[in-house]
Amino acid sequence: MKTLSGKEISKIGIGSYGIGGRGHRDMEITEKLEDEKYVDALVYTLDQGINFTEIAVGYGHGQSLILFKKALDKSTVNRKDIFLTHSLYPRDLLSIKDANRDVKSFYEIMETDYADSTLVTQSFIKKFGEDSTYSFLHEFLKTGKTRFVSLSNASPECIRNFKKEFNYKFYAHEGHLSFEIRVLQDREIFNLCDDLGIKNIIWRPLRRNKTFLHNWDLLVELAEKYQRTQSQIVLNWLCNLGYSPMVMSVSQKHIDENIASTNFTMLSEDYERMNDFRPSASNYHPPKIDFNNPSEGDSIVTLVNDFENHYN
Ligand SMILES: NC(=O)c1ccc[n+]([C@@H]2O[C@H](COP(=O)([O-])OP(=O)(O)OC[C@H]3O[C@@H](n4cnc5c(N)ncnc54)[C@H](OP(=O)(O)O)[C@@H]3O)[C@@H](O)[C@H]2O)c1
Repeated sequence: MKTLSGKEISKIGIGSYGIGGRGHRDMEITEKLEDEKYVDALVYTLDQGINFTEIAVGYGHGQSLILFKKALDKSTVNRKDIFLTHSLYPRDLLSIKDANRDVKSFYEIMETDYADSTLVTQSFIKKFGEDSTYSFLHEFLKTGKTRFVSLSNASPECIRNFKKEFNYKFYAHEGHLSFEIRVLQDREIFNLCDDLGIKNIIWRPLRRNKTFLHNWDLLVELAEKYQRTQSQIVLNWLCNLGYSPMVMSVSQKHIDENIASTNFTMLSEDYERMNDFRPSASNYHPPKIDFNNPSEGDSIVTLVNDFENHYN
């Protein structure tokens, strides 16, 4: 897969949630910094050749997209050199009409006439119905408003159905994998996507920096052995699996570190040890996830954010 101008897609991507402050339209904004900090970080990242992201109009109450566009204009990069996924989360959309309005504002703010991919979550399909969602997405594909479609936080069944419906136009599944949270790996979701030719994009791979607070023995050991940081070990492992992690950072030091995480190779036995790691079952008591009936929203998101509440 390439950008419209034919550029290869970078190994790691840009995390856009958090640009302009953390929060969706239905949530209070937290951790907000000065706008210029985000713009400078994005310009720097784009100019380093990091060229894919997923972004929702609701991120940062709309500010994420506005700042992203500002940064793109300031950078040396053209719209056609990036792979831009427009995400639709059902949490702040009341109807398919709202989703249509969301798409319209995405194009207007980005001053573009296409998305490289339009992403829906399984909870979006559940909320608005399979038929409506599929015809909504087919319309965008048919009119060239999106090049591909993508899915996030979906069960194997939902992924298979989406594949049947959209075939090679189904670009990526966005799921979570981090050092501690292996539920999608254990459910074979990444393997299923690999088998079906769907790209595995990894969201929140550093668990917003919470992973390193644990100083897990294996991560500490490998960081020391390869003279890299723990974040680099995690990102390198994910890329070695063929997955594409999206990381959010406003720090030039971290951006450099994240980009450099793809420039070294570990021994295969060390990748195996990373694959096999699981938090000790006697210390970890997560709630069971029912992908088909999450109690509220996408419960995988809650599981990722609440790991520390379930681990002692
Ligand atoms: N599909 C979904 O349901 C879904 C859900 C959640 C998120 N997402 C996507 O996934 C993206 C990434 O997730 P996220 O931004 O929440 O979490 P993340 O990328 O795991 O973590 C971001 C945090 O880690 C810090 N960081 C980044 N690189 C670092 C490094 N090398 N060393 C130390 N700290 C580092 C950043 O701080 P500094 O700025 O100081 O570097 C930032 O606070 C989001 O932006 C969003 O686009 C998708």
